[in-house]
Amino acid sequence: MKIVILLVLAYLLGSIPSGLWIGKIFFHKNLHDYGSGNTGTTNTFRILGRKAGIIVFILDFFKGYIATCLPLIFNVHGISPVVFGILAIFGHTCSIFDHFKGGKAVATSAGMLFAYNPYFFLFLLIIFAITLYLTSMVSFASVACAVIGGLAVLIFPSIHFIFKSYDPIFTILTLILAFFIIYKHKDNIKRIMNHDENLVPFGLNITN
Ligand code: G3P
Repeated sequence: MKIVILLVLAYLLGSIPSGLWIGKIFFHKNLHDYGSGNTGTTNTFRILGRKAGIIVFILDFFKGYIATCLPLIFNVHGISPVVFGILAIFGHTCSIFDHFKGGKAVATSAGMLFAYNPYFFLFLLIIFAITLYLTSMVSFASVACAVIGGLAVLIFPSIHFIFKSYDPIFTILTLILAFFIIYKHKDNIKRIMNHDENLVPFGLNITN
């Protein structure tokens, strides 16, 4: 019973639509109506500015982090913490508080990875930074991390790592997550192929 309550809690935590609520409460803007229509960090930066973008990133990141730590906090065993993180990511993308819409899973996935395997997180953070520097596209960097992260756990199951014992649940769920993130970026991928994708919002429309 305790496990079920915590699994539901993980989903509800992930469901908190921080970008949407901050936009509505403090800026009287519905992020769905602006920019990419996404409620995640990138569109928040783009539409609401730097401060709001940073706050939404932190909140979305910690949704994944805290959800993954729930079994540790509540002393639950016999189920991988990754399952809790994945439920928060699912909540983030299909929020019960936002008509089952939401973000594209990136910040919350980063929080889950940071909690479960900080070395793998660091590896993907470097990939993200390099691809963002080379392309100026957050979407490209996000998809690159999903592809490389997915391939990494597939080809080198021990990637997670040297520092942790082998966890097949992590491998399977990370692979599913990688496909899911790529799927959520399908419109971005079309725009990238048409050379029409938005570049980093960090220098644009930053008024606060
Ligand atoms: O994490 C989402 C990012 O990769 C793309 O966001 O708003 O440009 O579709 P957006």
